[in-house]
Amino acid sequence: MQILVIHGPNLNLLGTREPGIYGARTLPQIDADLAETAAKAGITLESFQSNHEGALVDRIQAAVQDGCRFIIINPAAYTHTSVALRDALAAVALPFVEVHLSNIHKREAFRQHSYFSDLADGVICGLGAQGYQLALQYALAKLSPAG
Ligand code: DQA
Repeated sequence: MQILVIHGPNLNLLGTREPGIYGARTLPQIDADLAETAAKAGITLESFQSNHEGALVDRIQAAVQDGCRFIIINPAAYTHTSVALRDALAAVALPFVEVHLSNIHKREAFRQHSYFSDLADGVICGLGAQGYQLALQYALAKLSPAG
């Protein structure tokens, strides 16, 4: 697996969770679209969602041995709280893009700070599910021989 997509807590509820904020697409739909785009480019992509911080840390730690070369992550609520997830990404030293469906800068004050943004190659927020596709385009370009 060359690209790992990580989804944090409550993103398993996409589709029914506050659709006015997070959109109507479900997580399986988002993941299927990403896998299809990656496959067309000849790149293997795997998605992982968990509501548990430790499970997310474990998955990030295992990524290198699994052959992962790039991570796309929506840490969800852990964006604003998790030093452990930040440290896991720093430890594996894989390039990553941080994605948020909503524009966190338009929302509550506690969502304005991310523990990830200063380590990320880039941050995409507020563009809904399309943000994942844009992150994937960046990853594919970066992994291509010319990139
Ligand atoms: C989110 C934004 C976070 O503040 C929130 O806790 C989420 C989802 C987003 O995708 O917009 O769960 O990461």
